[in-house]
Amino acid sequence: MYNKQSLTVLQKALDKLSEGFAELSAFEQQIPAEAEEILLQVAEKMQDNFPYHHPLYAGQMLKPPHEVARLAYMLAMWINPNNHALDGGRASSAMEKEAVAEIALMYGWKQHLGHLTSSGTFANLEALWVAGNIHPKRKIAASELAHYTHERISHVLGLQFQKIACTKTGEMDVKKLETQLKKGNIGTVVVTMGTTGIGSVDPLPEILELQKKYPFRIHLDAAYGGYFRLADNLPEATLNKYALMQQADSIVVDPHKHGLQPYGCGCILFKDPAMGRFYKHDSPYTYFSSTELHLGEISLECSRAGAAAVGLWATQKLFPLQKGEAFSKKMDSCHNAAIQLYNKVMADKRFIALQQPEIDIVIWAQKQPLISAINKASKELFEKAATKNLHLALLNYPVRLLPKHWNAIEKDEEYVTCLRSCLMKPEHEDWVDRIWEIFTSCLG
Ligand SMILES: Cc1ncc(COP(=O)(O)O)c(C=O)c1O
Repeated sequence: MYNKQSLTVLQKALDKLSEGFAELSAFEQQIPAEAEEILLQVAEKMQDNFPYHHPLYAGQMLKPPHEVARLAYMLAMWINPNNHALDGGRASSAMEKEAVAEIALMYGWKQHLGHLTSSGTFANLEALWVAGNIHPKRKIAASELAHYTHERISHVLGLQFQKIACTKTGEMDVKKLETQLKKGNIGTVVVTMGTTGIGSVDPLPEILELQKKYPFRIHLDAAYGGYFRLADNLPEATLNKYALMQQADSIVVDPHKHGLQPYGCGCILFKDPAMGRFYKHDSPYTYFSSTELHLGEISLECSRAGAAAVGLWATQKLFPLQKGEAFSKKMDSCHNAAIQLYNKVMADKRFIALQQPEIDIVIWAQKQPLISAINKASKELFEKAATKNLHLALLNYPVRLLPKHWNAIEKDEEYVTCLRSCLMKPEHEDWVDRIWEIFTSCLG
């Protein structure tokens, strides 16, 4: 599960780091005698986890960080920089600015205001906080399949929230959105570029058209799906949506989801650098070391892990965020894996899929005459698969959003429980046959 050689690389990098502090009088922290025993206990306790790193973990949104991210993060731990202020992390703040500018450029923004956050939730909070500052009396709108965080954040910020129904493809219904826009009280529309449940992508082209008739901001929640901007092989309609991302006002993307980073790495970007005015504050404690912009001046969080920026910077050096490069091919592989699994479901008369995946999430169930029977079967298959080391996830989906090919199934419940697989590892592409073999063997 780990590459022993990487520890040699870390040691060399640590030696190099130490050279920078060689002039200081010798000072070394000793490892207490009990540390080894405690660490072995930790290792034993941590065995109580699903094998998130392995391709047979094909359930929730979990993806191992890349080795280079892990090593760079660990290396930074010997400094433990704080990217709040330059006093706390000069090098890692510079790396954050560079890495975030590269992400902004992935969306076509040569200028931007942005920074890393501890999570997608916090990044979305900042986006909606700015939205609320611009339109304090107007509502935040998001689709019924948007992440629940938007409704909750709106409440935290004291902003009204408007849920917009979806169509049977799981996309925001633009007609329903227009009905709300006509009332003149929507300030910001959250457009999800890859919903958490099914990976559907909201119809950005049509929403941008509406912006010509009604004045509102567009915030893209691309926490999960944002890196598919680089993919080449998505369905044409999906590619068209991703191609227009630069027209939004703000974007959230999570490097700790598809960007190969350890947790603690979200990112918020604003197209207009002037949004920085909302962050203005007078801290009497920090900002004495230079007149340069401190990241703490453009962020709601104070202390932030400089190590997260170091990990991201190193990863983007290895994998530039450009179409056609190795990282974009990894995104293609995730979509390919999802299409392969979807095709297997479609080719097998015993199963029914929700719809062709737009990105890398596949939703399916065992065919049954009643929704209640499907719900029972999904739970049983989910549990049986886990006993065979195949880890899937479950999704409760509104029955009223089911597409036509589900019509023959009697709708005796409001929600259908389906199997859900986030195929986030590029390696999944080579494991779909094995996943399907194990899954179908669960039918008994
Ligand atoms: C679309 C979307 N937005 C926001 C979030 C919340 O992000 P985080 O878990 O990093 O706080 C998620 C998490 O799955 C997500 O999928």
